[in-house]
Amino acid sequence: MKIDNVTTTPFDDQRPGTSGLRKKVSRFTQPHYLENFIQSILSVVEPRAGATLVLGGDGRYHNAEAIQVILRMAAANGIGRVLVGRDGILSTPAASCVIRKHGAAGGIILSASHNPGGPQGDFGVKFNTANGGPAPETVTETIYRHSREIREYRIAAHGDIPLGRTGRHTLGTMSVEVIDPVADYAELMERLFDFDRIHALFNSDAFRMRFDALHAVTGPYAHAILERRLGAPPGTVVHGTPLPDFGGGHPDPNLVYAHELVDALYAADAPDFGAASDGDGDRNMILGRHCFVTPSDSLAVLAANAHLVPGYRLGLRGVARSMPTSRAVDRVAAAQGIDCYETPTGWKFFGSLLDAGRVTLCGEESFGTGSDHVREKDGLWAVLFWLNLLALKRQPVAALLREHWRTFGRDYYTRHDYEGIDSAAAHAMIDTLREGLGSLPGRRVGARNTVYADDFAYTDPVDGSVSTGQGIRIVFDDDARIVFRLSGTGTEGATLRVYLERFEPDPERHDLDPQAALADLIAAANELAAIERHTGRTAPDVIT
Ligand code: G1P
Ligand code: ZN
Repeated sequence: MKIDNVTTTPFDDQRPGTSGLRKKVSRFTQPHYLENFIQSILSVVEPRAGATLVLGGDGRYHNAEAIQVILRMAAANGIGRVLVGRDGILSTPAASCVIRKHGAAGGIILSASHNPGGPQGDFGVKFNTANGGPAPETVTETIYRHSREIREYRIAAHGDIPLGRTGRHTLGTMSVEVIDPVADYAELMERLFDFDRIHALFNSDAFRMRFDALHAVTGPYAHAILERRLGAPPGTVVHGTPLPDFGGGHPDPNLVYAHELVDALYAADAPDFGAASDGDGDRNMILGRHCFVTPSDSLAVLAANAHLVPGYRLGLRGVARSMPTSRAVDRVAAAQGIDCYETPTGWKFFGSLLDAGRVTLCGEESFGTGSDHVREKDGLWAVLFWLNLLALKRQPVAALLREHWRTFGRDYYTRHDYEGIDSAAAHAMIDTLREGLGSLPGRRVGARNTVYADDFAYTDPVDGSVSTGQGIRIVFDDDARIVFRLSGTGTEGATLRVYLERFEPDPERHDLDPQAALADLIAAANELAAIERHTGRTAPDVIT
């Protein structure tokens, strides 16, 4: 096998963000851009000679070309075997599952998650370590430093490997195994959930579901598992063929971007259960007939009922949530007498807790839920978990949720996103908030007194690593809370996220519209941060 050592110069913008390196396609397709980053990964990780690497992506524009480049570079860098999904497809949770099951040294996942695809859209590269989880910051920072100094990358001179069918190929001394992207993952799901009961649920006339894959990677998984294995009628899965540009849509399962599904679930003839996943299959949105389950509530409901599901029948070791996620799951943990960890935003912070066996379930308000079965959040897993509960309880989603609130109280919750704002203005706003933190306790804002304010910092209890600057938290005397932070995944300008929540113990008051229930807090957030003055915006772009 002929190996080329290609001379290159560093790019200065290859620092991975909340979830891998994400850029516009036009940036990623510049000569040497992808190669530099992949070489930085391979040089830093230094898999032992002959190691196995997992490779796949969400099928977005440039996925197929990038896979071939990475295969050639893997061969030139001494990788022994690559497990690559057929057609270059692997959802993020499936990649995590394959890494763990086959003892791989790590995996490269090509995805920009829920960001739009296509020639004008985004592309991304994530590196996952041998535990199947996103590389921790120490690794991504080393990769970044390497990318600033890179002078050369190695690539094998070789033609494309056919990826359309499962089978084995060789690329020089490296073996390329094209695997069914669904098989290992489906087998894991079958071990965790009561497939027979879910099958019976789908066979009862009383239950109809709609799953919207948003033209992204979960389509093949949902067709195989929900329709073919669990007997859901064909047509249950909509938009199930992955398209390079996601059909022009925004593959983000929230109330704005998955509006077609939301409309269907709020229609007069709505199905009983609705769900959607994102570009790379790690997010989930759960809907019932005329009912939306916030991701924070979903995590709490799963935690409260986990013992009913085969894979979790022994109970939970602990739970974890990202800081901006509502405190609904904390109440469940307290009732069960288990630990609840509060981590910074981003799935990578759950990895050490999961590896150490401290937590079983974890989740984020951003439509991410998961467990120790893999080391990524997992969209379809959450959907199957809900299906398992619905199959057992034979109760509408809305009733199940109401019962949960009756037991634990309701955490009214909303997130307001201001997208594409001027980056300097956004940073100035956060800096101003940060500088004023000390003067906040005791200050009256609307009808509340501020009791506590900080810039969230986290010390990982397992490895002791410290992460600072993770979001401004402001807590009031009734325990209501506002959090401000800037997105670490955007590719255009800055995105301000404002998270608002308050607790309502009284079941008589559990029927309010969250925006109305939180109206005074929303006003307080504007007053505290002077959002309009800093950004010129009078209203958020996305409300979830
Ligand atoms: C967003 C979410 C975060 C999630 C990440 C990757 O990051 O807020 O919870 O882990 O996407 O899916 P952000 O853009 O806020 O940095
Ligand atoms: Zn995703």
